[in-house]
Amino acid sequence: MVQGLVEACVSLVVNAEPFAVTQPERRSSALRTMPGTVKRDRLLELDEITITRAAREHGPGYAIVPTCVRTMVREFLLRTGRRLNIRKLQSADIRAVYRALGLDDFHAINARQAWANWRTIPRNLNGRLPREPVTAIDLCCGVGDSTAVLAYYCSSGSRILGIDAEDQFIAAARRRTFVDGQGHETPVQFQVQDVLDAWTDEHGRRIPGQSVDLVNAVGAFGCHFDRTATARVVEQCRRVVRPGGLAMFDAGRDGTSHAVLAQLFTQAGFEWLGRARSCCLDRFWQLCFRKRGP
Ligand SMILES: C[S@@+](CC[C@H](N)C(=O)[O-])C[C@H]1O[C@@H](n2cnc3c(N)ncnc32)[C@H](O)[C@@H]1O
Repeated sequence: MVQGLVEACVSLVVNAEPFAVTQPERRSSALRTMPGTVKRDRLLELDEITITRAAREHGPGYAIVPTCVRTMVREFLLRTGRRLNIRKLQSADIRAVYRALGLDDFHAINARQAWANWRTIPRNLNGRLPREPVTAIDLCCGVGDSTAVLAYYCSSGSRILGIDAEDQFIAAARRRTFVDGQGHETPVQFQVQDVLDAWTDEHGRRIPGQSVDLVNAVGAFGCHFDRTATARVVEQCRRVVRPGGLAMFDAGRDGTSHAVLAQLFTQAGFEWLGRARSCCLDRFWQLCFRKRGP
């Protein structure tokens, strides 16, 4: 309890920092009247204590510092022992690396990300996600650790699609049960495909234009995708996200930087709303953009 409160207070201070590259969101009357946006009283409202409590109740229960150390050791062993470098930038290479990993290795390597998701994603959804059923896509969803957070915070009746290139991860995600904030089971669909190709649903049908309210990505663009690859994905966001819809993408020095991500989304007709991360030691931020309307 005390630890949770301390974590919430620290997060509050640390995540209040503004982002210097673009203008921060102004929560003003302009937001209420902008085409394609929703009135503020119809938006998800969260505070840090609620986010922290949900993270502790529904997220991974492990302590983060030893987890990070274990992840680093595992990555080192994979790099030296099996020549698998998870930090490779090229999309084709990184897919081959993930394919060579077993589920056990993936869970070990993704442990830090799974912990961070329960803190980063809700901070970006806060004050922006409509409190009504939405259509959401979780890009590079892996075994569904980020999808579980979306399922928890999206209103019941939402339609969520997880996309990942690795069928062994998608098979594991399909075996999971996802629940919303009221504890009701949420149906989630999955599709195996490269996110650089045109996105398709669980039946292989192309996602229609302007049909998606939220595209989420964590643990992917900040470490694995260069500018060219990310530009292809942003172009798909431009096509499928409806005016007023959100795109939340991670950024980082190993992959696509904040500045490049902000530039690509701005050129594609999105405005930058803000950014969030899990804690002050997290070197990956997730940036949140809204598609301009109508
Ligand atoms: C670090 S994991 C993140 C998983 C998940 N988002 C989470 O937060 O737990 C990165 C994922 O990206 C997937 N991936 C990498 N390149 C991809 C591509 N070109 N198309 C689809 N998925 C890809 C990998 O298979 C892996 O599951």
